[in-house]
Amino acid sequence: MCGITGYIGYDEAAPLLIRALKKLEYRGYDSAGVAIIDNGKIFVRKKKGQIKLLDESLSASTLSGNTGIGHTRWATHGEPSDINSHPHIDAEGRIAIVHNGIIENYVKLKQWLQSRGIVFRSDTDTEVIVHIINYFYRTSQGALLDAVMETLKLLTGSYALAIVSADYPDRIIAARKNCPLITGLGKTGAFIASDVPALLEHTRDLVFLNDGEIAVLYRDHIELRSSEGEVLKRETTHIDWDVESAEKGGYPHFMLKEIFEQSKAMSDALSPRLKMGGPEAAGANKVIDFDEVKLDERWIMARRIVITACGTAYHAGIIGKYAFEHLARIPVEVDIASEYRYRSPIFDKKDIVIVISQSGETADTIAAMRLAKQNGACVFAITNAPGSTLSREADIVMYTYAGPEIAVASTKAFTTQVMCIYLLAIELGRLRKHISGDAYRRYIAALSEIPKQARQILDKKESIQRFAARQFNKTKMFFMGRQFDYPVSMESALKLKEISYTHSEAFAAGELKHGPIALVDSSTLVVTFATQNALFEKIASNIREVTSRGAASLVITWEDVDSFDTVSEAIFTLPKTEDCLSPLLAVIPAQLFAYYCAIQRGNDPDKPRNLAKSVTVE
Ligand code: G6P
Repeated sequence: MCGITGYIGYDEAAPLLIRALKKLEYRGYDSAGVAIIDNGKIFVRKKKGQIKLLDESLSASTLSGNTGIGHTRWATHGEPSDINSHPHIDAEGRIAIVHNGIIENYVKLKQWLQSRGIVFRSDTDTEVIVHIINYFYRTSQGALLDAVMETLKLLTGSYALAIVSADYPDRIIAARKNCPLITGLGKTGAFIASDVPALLEHTRDLVFLNDGEIAVLYRDHIELRSSEGEVLKRETTHIDWDVESAEKGGYPHFMLKEIFEQSKAMSDALSPRLKMGGPEAAGANKVIDFDEVKLDERWIMARRIVITACGTAYHAGIIGKYAFEHLARIPVEVDIASEYRYRSPIFDKKDIVIVISQSGETADTIAAMRLAKQNGACVFAITNAPGSTLSREADIVMYTYAGPEIAVASTKAFTTQVMCIYLLAIELGRLRKHISGDAYRRYIAALSEIPKQARQILDKKESIQRFAARQFNKTKMFFMGRQFDYPVSMESALKLKEISYTHSEAFAAGELKHGPIALVDSSTLVVTFATQNALFEKIASNIREVTSRGAASLVITWEDVDSFDTVSEAIFTLPKTEDCLSPLLAVIPAQLFAYYCAIQRGNDPDKPRNLAKSVTVE
């Protein structure tokens, strides 16, 4: 999705804006641009393609000035082109804006502006905004903030906006509705951006705008206002991530770095929540002890858990279904947030609604959360992003502590989400008396081993790399499994298609004969997850069914299991944990496989085509 940034201060704006835009690259984009105010005039430079083209153009002939805004565009209205890139300026060239989001009523507004003689330069929805600001600016005797506030009242849809005016070189106005926007004061000036990594090198004390709020940035202070213009007070949120953790740190790609960080990330999600002592059931051993969550009567008496999320987080939610049902014997319904929000779901006061989102800014997940809240549900959020919309609006928040995840294809955010789910499910299982003291201790001991076991898998990365080098050009790649292996198959297929652009699908192995087998031939690779001991024989037959039709096969199973030795030509083994915890480990070789297939195919895994890290519009 688009990224926006702005700087006003004592330094040259252009290089700072470029640096910030580079930190927002991961969001996905197809063009980039900046507008700088210099000597009472606005100068715009924008380019289709990578930020480096814009950077080169600015190096060849720089734009000087201490106030500016910048943008990475992910095309929604109008093809990627120089003209459609942001910033957009008004007819007189006195106002420039950058925008993340979609203006849903832009057609009507455009017709109205055209009837007043405005000529549009681009095909974007955004351009209407700058012309309307100009209209109100002219009619409000030059009060820029008033003109912006009037304009916002006319817009439906979503926006994060940054606005500069040649008449007001001393300020940047920014506003948000349903798209993230964060501001902070650094040593040399004030900054605004769509996401935290763009601001970290300047300050870690940030102000997260709420929907409907407006920020006015000056070089030495930032004013926060309501949509009506009243000045608001807001505490800053301190971000612990260091700048380093948002950099590649010697890895060729963020994705590989983040795959390798999983051992630490899972340990960070787990350790603060495992403490000595506690309930009798666990004796003097480590027990789950959440600071942020109290699994009170409401959880114990809950009739149902409803989980909703998008993309990879949705797959974590499906693992949640298996985990809560298996460990706590509580029925779980999982739904994709974009479906949930429109299908008029049934609410029950005795439900717990869990929303899962790495960014905490996914438009559909936020809408699903708001719908659940409006209907009286207690919403529990699992997110990686302190300060995000989800973290602020949910009733209870559990952080995944994955650290910044930059690669579009989510890896460590997923495994930490799943870790949080297991902690909840195991503790709930104990409270609802479905897990004995012995089993509880066994599960906790098993969870404690997971970070080390993840490292052991990562140490074997070369074997996956070699396998990918042999198989990457298969035209179809399928993933199958049963029980806990099914959502892992779904996540693996998603990872592979996202970055290698290979046609990949996942199915519950029992469904093989109900359709997918019709597609299996010698151009197919089938990756089978086989970690559910009770189903080994069934899954072995499924593997035979595909290999006998010419498919290549890889089985991902436990060490010391020989059930597949004669069934599959390739086997990758995982260190043994409880069968029901297998997703935490089994997904790792699949992430590596997707990564190496992307590399073999010459793709940049960090910037997959057409995809965005954070989908802040519908
Ligand atoms: C996009 C990203 C995925 C992510 C999904 C949900 O599609 O590319 O990696 O899983 O959004 O994002 P969230 O931030 O809500 O977890």
